[in-house]
Amino acid sequence: MPAAVLGGLGTYLPPRRVSNEELADRFDTSDEWIRTRTGIRQRRWADTGQSTGDLATEAGHRALKSAGLDLGADVDLVVLATTTPDHPCPATAPDVAARLGLSRAAAYDISAVCSGFVYALEVASNALLAGRAQTALVIGAETYSTILNPQDRTTSVIFGDGAGAAVLRRGEADEPGAFAGFDLGSDGNDKDLICIPDGGSRQRATHQEPGDDGRYFTMQGKKVFASAVRRMSESSAALLDRVGWPVDSVDHLVGHQANVRILRAVAEQIGIEAARAVIDIDRVGNTSAASIPLALAEASSAGTVAPGDRVLLTAFGGGLTWGSAALTWPDITAC
Ligand code: UT7
Repeated sequence: MPAAVLGGLGTYLPPRRVSNEELADRFDTSDEWIRTRTGIRQRRWADTGQSTGDLATEAGHRALKSAGLDLGADVDLVVLATTTPDHPCPATAPDVAARLGLSRAAAYDISAVCSGFVYALEVASNALLAGRAQTALVIGAETYSTILNPQDRTTSVIFGDGAGAAVLRRGEADEPGAFAGFDLGSDGNDKDLICIPDGGSRQRATHQEPGDDGRYFTMQGKKVFASAVRRMSESSAALLDRVGWPVDSVDHLVGHQANVRILRAVAEQIGIEAARAVIDIDRVGNTSAASIPLALAEASSAGTVAPGDRVLLTAFGGGLTWGSAALTWPDITAC
């Protein structure tokens, strides 16, 4: 049976490390508050002039390398998940595809905030299964440092910049790396819980200038926390049921790195021991659409995951949106 198969993984983190102590000098916060409430010790922020497309191109290049492909390879599809595109128009993916020399690829962005990478994986997987593509490049890339409100200590300490990319190819369901299934969902009734209020047609249709604060990312943390735990747990359970994986057969839970307390709560609700949850939020913060591929690469480089292991991905973000994916781990080296 045909399946989408993970064939390569690449990541890029901007060099600038921002410690909790540095933020404590700037905001009314402390290393202790940030560590105990979120699990974050440091994050990376892009340098001046470094855009989401720049990070995505670097991660995409490394993913191609990990898959044994060169620049200009025969890739049919590039899907870029991001909350922070280079421009409101056009999408960032065509530029990234061009910079990677992927001149014949269809390329577009997906906007599902922190669930974006799982959404993009599902879309690419469907194209491969339908025979519309043989090879796809799926990227999650963010520069949240460009949308954080310098007056908002809560969001400013959580989010980091980075990019991760995966090469998917059309293969067989019984080979390591095959995706067994996906579960996606949304609830737009709670769209205001995570939002950049201004800059889109909702604000421009009023013919008023964007407000100072309206340009920035906002989040109602407590409500989002509860929803994230519930939706990721429910989506994971639904997917495991659909693909017929008993919960104790899951070797690794790779959840969206939103908050270490959320990750522990999701593991507990699903019934997966906390030690099987991959955690890298301490080093990179919440990188939104880049979070899942960065955590996957971290687990791969650390030797935590081995070929054939069962891996469950689950994410939650603005929209509200959520999504889960199940795959067996391939024999690849992340670059
Ligand atoms: O990636 C998309 C999905 N995102 C998420 O899933 C994030 C979900 N939410 C969270 O992770 C947590 O809600 C936060 C980390 C955002 C906040 O943690 P919390 O434990 O829910 O804190 P809180 O909002 O209830 O605030 C507790 C206290 C408040 O002070 P008072 O009212 O108790 O005096 C806040 O003003 O902590 C205060 N506070 C801070 N203190 C120091 C909020 N931010 C900070 C800060 N430093 N940075």
